Amino acid sequence: MLRRPRRNRKSDVIRELVVETRLSKSDLIYPLFMVDGNNIKQEVSSMPGTYRFSIDKLMDEIDECVKLGIKTFCLFPAFEEKYKDKYATISSDPDNFYLKAITQIKKDIPEACVMTDVAMDPYSSDGHDGIVENGEILNDETLEILGKMSLAQAQAGADILGPSDMMDGRVEHIRELLDDEGFTKVSIMSYTAKYASAFYGPFRDALDSAPKSGDKKTYQMNPANVREALIEAELDELEGADMLMVKPALSYLDVIRELSEVSNLPIAAYNVSGEYAMIKAADQKGWLDGEKTMMEVLLSIRRAGAKIILTYFAKEYAKINV
Ligand code: PBG
Repeated sequence: MLRRPRRNRKSDVIRELVVETRLSKSDLIYPLFMVDGNNIKQEVSSMPGTYRFSIDKLMDEIDECVKLGIKTFCLFPAFEEKYKDKYATISSDPDNFYLKAITQIKKDIPEACVMTDVAMDPYSSDGHDGIVENGEILNDETLEILGKMSLAQAQAGADILGPSDMMDGRVEHIRELLDDEGFTKVSIMSYTAKYASAFYGPFRDALDSAPKSGDKKTYQMNPANVREALIEAELDELEGADMLMVKPALSYLDVIRELSEVSNLPIAAYNVSGEYAMIKAADQKGWLDGEKTMMEVLLSIRRAGAKIILTYFAKEYAKINV
């Protein structure tokens, strides 16, 4: 036998020498859920180890994570039902707790990089990412609201905006508004290929943001399609996105790979709530080793071509990989 591939696996040192993919804490973005109030840290029941934080507790969490080497945070607010309306009005009210939190984080922990979510669903009485009219999700009218929301987030101090709504033309609309108002340095990480996925279930529990009627299939992508993701990527590039995201990650590793081959922009992948919940549930039942599974999953997303991974495992990963 002239060729023996096992020679390259014979020791830790050799395995490390030939390793093809490395993951680092600086590749990770940690999504965090927020609620209004004080001294609140409630575990999300379908996401063990993930919490809804009031601002004071959130500051402690971010502080701890920054010390562990996790520096970018994607924040999601849970608003009480009474603040929601058809037009997500509260989303651009500078007094809302979400916008105030962004300002406070940037002031007190300047090394933290803050990413926001741009979509109507946490603020909408319909639970959809856009305006609902006779059961239809309006595109162009929604852009105006997303634009106002984006400006409010930029004004609050956000470093990266994450439009997750999947309306057509939103990246261009937001980019132009930001530039007109002098926010040329604010980045856009577009949710480029966001699929209509069952894996978002636990997230919607965390935010009480499930659609009140219908589903999201007229704006989020069909899980059957990958060529369509390439169209979305082309548009996002033309419209001025700085980074492209694929979401969810694990059932869409081929989409991550395709995008990383056609685009020179950094590719991100969102290891979503349901993907996290499955591993936690199996670990709690003793059906698999949660820690090892987490490492394998994160590595696989990186190997597929994602430079950046948004994951609820970020803090756990950082604790293990000091
Ligand atoms: C909302 C939004 C969703 C997620 C991120 N932003 C849910 C949805 O589209 O219904 C899901 C994240 C996750 O499941 O971890 N625009």
